[in-house]
Amino acid sequence: MGKKGNFNSKIGVILAAAGSAVGLGNIWKFPYMVGENGGSAFLLIYLLCCLAIGLPIMIAEFSIGKRAGVGIEGAFRTLSGNSRWQWLSALGFIASLLLLSFYPVVTGWCILHVFRLPDNTLTQIIFGGLSLLVTCVISWYGVQNGLERMSKILMPLFIVLLLLLIGKSLMLSGSNLGVQFLFDTDFSKINSSVILNAMGQSFFSLSVGMGVLLTFGSYMPKSQSIISTSVQVVTLDTLISILSGLAIFPAVFALGFNPAEGPQLVFDILPKVFGLMSFGEVWTTLFFTLLSLAAITSLLSMLEVSVTYVSDKTQLSRKKSILLLFVVLFSSMCLCVFFPYLFDAYDNMVSQYLLPIGGLAITIFVGWFIPKKDTMDEMKNHSRIQSDWFYEIFFLLIRYIIPLAIVMIFLNGLGVFERL
Ligand code: TRP
Repeated sequence: MGKKGNFNSKIGVILAAAGSAVGLGNIWKFPYMVGENGGSAFLLIYLLCCLAIGLPIMIAEFSIGKRAGVGIEGAFRTLSGNSRWQWLSALGFIASLLLLSFYPVVTGWCILHVFRLPDNTLTQIIFGGLSLLVTCVISWYGVQNGLERMSKILMPLFIVLLLLLIGKSLMLSGSNLGVQFLFDTDFSKINSSVILNAMGQSFFSLSVGMGVLLTFGSYMPKSQSIISTSVQVVTLDTLISILSGLAIFPAVFALGFNPAEGPQLVFDILPKVFGLMSFGEVWTTLFFTLLSLAAITSLLSMLEVSVTYVSDKTQLSRKKSILLLFVVLFSSMCLCVFFPYLFDAYDNMVSQYLLPIGGLAITIFVGWFIPKKDTMDEMKNHSRIQSDWFYEIFFLLIRYIIPLAIVMIFLNGLGVFERL
């Protein structure tokens, strides 16, 4: 494959990680989650989760991959000297299959909006299938990095469009209610399911807990700083989510929509806001085209996990694995279209359970199974931050606080504390 050759510049890994992180999670899932979970209360906990859980796990994933120089299968074996951590790659594989079953459906909705086509079972299958097909073809020819390089231009353009939307949205009368909904924290709305959802959303949006970033870490040049790469990716991803919230909620309130309406929220609101501008149709097309591309760079990173796993386990070639996966994933995607509860179940299963369990395992591995000094050296390498206390806080988080927090959030979500 010569894949490492594609990544021999520092910007390569940042673009790949940002391409994976920025996607439907920011524009589609974040707003409807905020809407369903009480607005500002969710946002506050979400931000806390990104900073105190997502960021350290991202750093941990990059550092495992960079140190081992190989992807998830080999990395745990190389660094621990045994194969007791193998189940983690199976977990990542299952998560990637579930993600790849519903994510293309939503990508299909975006493409439907590009061409202003009706949304029915048939068109969902055709355009969901098309999203999956395009992803597989790009991976087949190994030209992912071409798309990622394009995102250097497309991402800023996308941000400009979001700013335009925000401007329009804020000018509508009644928009201040939306801003309040987003930023005026109402602590009484915080409950166990809001916390579980916020944690899940932070894993999903940052692409952590599945080994994607671990694999990207293995492509990092020695001289690349793990800390600054992670901070850049988390900052960009969070910024885009907040911009998306600011574009949507003022309009939701001004136009009298229900913020808790669910997964269709952005698809109902955004075309309406663009419709109020001159050249509305052009903006709508441009916006959903860019969003579809962002979704495809995310899909590519998920597919990589499945392809690597299948080709490792079955000795099939990379291309045959892609073919096999396409058939399996297309079938499973059709099931998600036919049975919406399956769509929701996959989505919740991945965000709320599989990714946090993966993240938990990663923190335990880095915190307790590899020498602290090794990880410390890896993180300090080419980092602008050299003071020890920073790294001590990181270890405090990785060893105790994050594992404990994840377990507590799980138990709390299951209602264990209410019954005590
Ligand atoms: N982060 C992406 C988004 O926000 C989704 C995604 C891509 C992902 N790769 C992942 C989520 C790996 C979890 C794991 O749309």
